[in-house]
Amino acid sequence: MNHADPQSTTRRDAIKLGLLAGAGLAVGRGAPLFGEVPNRAQELITRPIPGTGERLPVVGVGTNQWGAQSEESIAPLREIVRLMSEGGARFIDTARIYGRGRAEEVIGQILRELDARDDVFIATKVPSPDTREEAVASLEGCMTALGVERVSAMRVHFLDGVEILMPILREWKEAGRARYIGVTTMSAEDYPELERLIRDENLDTIEIDYSVLDRAAAARILPLAADHGLSVVVARPFAGRRGGVFSLVGDRPLPDFASEIGATSWAQLTLKYIIANPAVTVVIPGTDDPEHMVDNMGAGRGELPDADMRRRIEQIFDGLGG
Ligand SMILES: NC(=O)c1ccc[n+]([C@@H]2O[C@H](COP(=O)([O-])OP(=O)(O)OC[C@H]3O[C@@H](n4cnc5c(N)ncnc54)[C@H](OP(=O)(O)O)[C@@H]3O)[C@@H](O)[C@H]2O)c1
Repeated sequence: MNHADPQSTTRRDAIKLGLLAGAGLAVGRGAPLFGEVPNRAQELITRPIPGTGERLPVVGVGTNQWGAQSEESIAPLREIVRLMSEGGARFIDTARIYGRGRAEEVIGQILRELDARDDVFIATKVPSPDTREEAVASLEGCMTALGVERVSAMRVHFLDGVEILMPILREWKEAGRARYIGVTTMSAEDYPELERLIRDENLDTIEIDYSVLDRAAAARILPLAADHGLSVVVARPFAGRRGGVFSLVGDRPLPDFASEIGATSWAQLTLKYIIANPAVTVVIPGTDDPEHMVDNMGAGRGELPDADMRRRIEQIFDGLGG
């Protein structure tokens, strides 16, 4: 929810003070600390990973803000993972470099504490190495930090690491240490190279940025990924932490048509805009706020905008100068 009510602020403060620490155990499964996931009565939207058919709920979480050091700052993140398993979300996107290695450690700790390892789909990334040895050390670093033997997906974080990393990722896939392998980029300047990789490298998955404010991927990358049977993870769905969707809309009310698809917040409306593209497998809004996680999971249920409504959403943001 975008606007904090006094009661939920008190709950969040309680979490941040660590009063509900201890692996969220004091909370008890099923207790709606942050309210029910919106649209809960409506069907959870899942998408198959092309190639295996494994289905994923379309809303996950991004963790580039998860470099928490203290129990006080880990507590809301633990609550997010607990809420995910309650609300049907599974995909946790992370990377070796988030929080300088700390994000993976925090995720590993939380999954152990909640005994939730089997409930989630962990997708991490390794940065560009100079040598094969450095690449392997990075990969092993991911596993150690996460406290796992294998991950669901392992990706090259920046495309200039592809030549060294892709052969190693293939070996890791062969050895069962990563079920899906691929690449990620947030730069449209990389798209010609990304297109080449999609065609030539037998990838399972890509991660790109795509939002109502940044639609570049929709023209060629999303259709190409769909044609080649790749899963697509959408990062930065609100166009990032600064100057994105929320600073543009401010406290403007939602358009009336949002209710036609059950969207009760700008977050849900703009996430549903993305999810409506059939090439999208999962969207990973970044958050360290359990209330926002609940809000975002509301986008993963019920109706999606049709082409006409998507155009109207684009017009709103174009009109705001997006
Ligand atoms: N592959 C790559 O190179 C790459 C690059 C960038 C990002 N990523 C991945 O993509 C994820 C998402 O990108 P991002 O975090 O940069 O940008 P984003 O998801 O577009 O936006 C995140 C911002 O939105 C806010 N937010 C989230 N849910 C909200 C809600 N329901 N209502 C109001 N505000 C909300 C967050 O604040 P709160 O924390 O307060 O909720 C945060 O400030 C990252 O976490 C990371 O996993 C990958």
